[in-house]
Amino acid sequence: MRIQIDDKDFDLLLEYDQIKKRIRLIGIQLNLDFENRIPVFVGVLNGSFVFLADLIKEITIASEVTFVKVKSYNGDQSSGVISDEMDISMDLKDRDVIVVEDIVDTGKTLKYILEKIKAQKPASINVCSLLFKPNIIEEEIEELTYVGFEIPNDFVVGYGLDYNGLGRNFKDIYKAVALKK
Ligand code: IMP
Repeated sequence: MRIQIDDKDFDLLLEYDQIKKRIRLIGIQLNLDFENRIPVFVGVLNGSFVFLADLIKEITIASEVTFVKVKSYNGDQSSGVISDEMDISMDLKDRDVIVVEDIVDTGKTLKYILEKIKAQKPASINVCSLLFKPNIIEEEIEELTYVGFEIPNDFVVGYGLDYNGLGRNFKDIYKAVALKK
């Protein structure tokens, strides 16, 4: 199925049913890995809010949720310049932190967030990202433990991900028909 957002065409990449199944499995893994601990899920806004909402419903162990907001994207290009929009309001010292991302592209945003969290001296940090573009990652991120889907180097929208602010509301994930150079 093809959709149009703003000036771009997108084709279906991942259906919600497929996404839900994968999230169920990640949830099972997290429940096992963090048994007898009380992890803090740190959602990276805006993109991760849909993923985090589905993921947290699969978590059966005691856990807390907080958010951080940074900005790094302009349209469909990673700007590389990251700015703080909302700081983490929780004390993460000695906590088991699970950073929840929608997508890891160049890895620059994640690296920036991880530095901020590490400064608070948590007990552990792991990253859970729904999507990962392994072909274009520029930063080595050893904390990236949980990945939903590895995808090719396409710009994607839907399920929380946007193009110029639009498309976050789509249930499925779509990829751009032609990558803008
Ligand atoms: P990075 O710093 O290049 O890894 O970019 C990470 C952030 O950019 C993600 O948290 C998303 O908000 C956004 N982003 C990266 N790739 C895409 C994409 O294909 N579609 C929509 N947003 C994206």
